[in-house]
Amino acid sequence: MNDASVTRRYRFSAAHRLHCDGLSTEDNRRIFGKCNKPNGHGHNYVLYVTVRGPIDSATGQATDTEALDRLVHEIVLQRFDHRDLNHDAGFAGRTTTGENLVLLVWDLLVSRIPIGRLEKIGLIETRDNYFEYDGLALAAGSAGA
Ligand code: NI
Repeated sequence: MNDASVTRRYRFSAAHRLHCDGLSTEDNRRIFGKCNKPNGHGHNYVLYVTVRGPIDSATGQATDTEALDRLVHEIVLQRFDHRDLNHDAGFAGRTTTGENLVLLVWDLLVSRIPIGRLEKIGLIETRDNYFEYDGLALAAGSAGA
């Protein structure tokens, strides 16, 4: 069976502030720079969701993009768009970094993909920042490798 990957692109806007309660004011400023400024700031995020699966011999498709779009809108975009990420329960005790955001999106979607399996989450935060998570370390760990 030939597998192929399909990537869909989504957009949402959200606010955040990078800050660790356990660190001093100086350390927070040093580590997070301008992303630590009080009152937060916003990003226009671009989210990439990649699903991999066997190419269906009848349809020629590896997933159902309409079903995937509905899922991502319902589970991810409605949750984060025009919200303050620092107030999201998924970030309790975690900083709202791009790394933690791709991990959270992965966790929200991985067991719900309608056809195929989740292969990768990508996230553009700014012109110069791109984050990625593919769950491979997690999968390898659970397989006892
Ligand atoms: Ni930021």
